[in-house]
Amino acid sequence: MKITAHRGLSSQAPENTMSAFLKAIEFGVPWIELDTQLSSDGIPVVIHDQTVNRCTNGSGIVTQMSLADLQSLDAGLWFSDTFRGEKIPTLESVLSLTKNHSIAINIELKTSPGDDVPTLCETVAQLIIDKQFNPEQLLFSSFDTRALIEIKRHLPTIRRGHLWQEIPEDAEATLHEIDAFSVHCDYRFLTKPQARRLKAQGYEIYCYTPNFPALVKSYWNWGVDMMITDTPQSYLEAKQD
Ligand code: G3P
Ligand code: MG
Repeated sequence: MKITAHRGLSSQAPENTMSAFLKAIEFGVPWIELDTQLSSDGIPVVIHDQTVNRCTNGSGIVTQMSLADLQSLDAGLWFSDTFRGEKIPTLESVLSLTKNHSIAINIELKTSPGDDVPTLCETVAQLIIDKQFNPEQLLFSSFDTRALIEIKRHLPTIRRGHLWQEIPEDAEATLHEIDAFSVHCDYRFLTKPQARRLKAQGYEIYCYTPNFPALVKSYWNWGVDMMITDTPQSYLEAKQD
């Protein structure tokens, strides 16, 4: 049973923070997923939304804020007082944390309309090259096909997965274009025939974000390879039943 801690162990710590990633490492989850985008001064930061409004005590658009502005915010207090003082991490800090642990990272390249996708991909790629990361320890995903094409150009040996909420009819052409390793989809829309077809074509299938193992019990038999979940602990408990 393969499990990814979605935005870190985000049911027990504020999502996409160092505490959430540390908890995933301590818990022994084999994979973490994170979301990255660029600050206005070109630093890849780890945050899900287009704005800081939901997950910090500030407001504003991430790509229009400098790293210093972003890191002046509290990214923990919205979750609980225990995490007061938590910062929005840089991608570099998360890579440094995970490099020396046996945990792999699914880096989701987050883009919004108007974003400079080539610069995001080039900057992230350079960071990974500088860190001399083992390609096996990484996987890129994105809802944005352009980002996956760009990142393939920079880092062809690092695997790529396409994200869709609902897998489209023409998925195969896109998967071929990005030379995909995996398909990442919302578990609520995946059907057994789709899963069987993608598996027969050689793709891994990762489902987000089932937080109760019972919801996807049958999916393992369909060939689904990984659940990307906020509650990895519940899967471990279910396994012990
Ligand atoms: O990578 C799986 C999942 O994170 C995709 O959706 O919105 O949570 O980034 P989202
Ligand atoms: Mg994500």
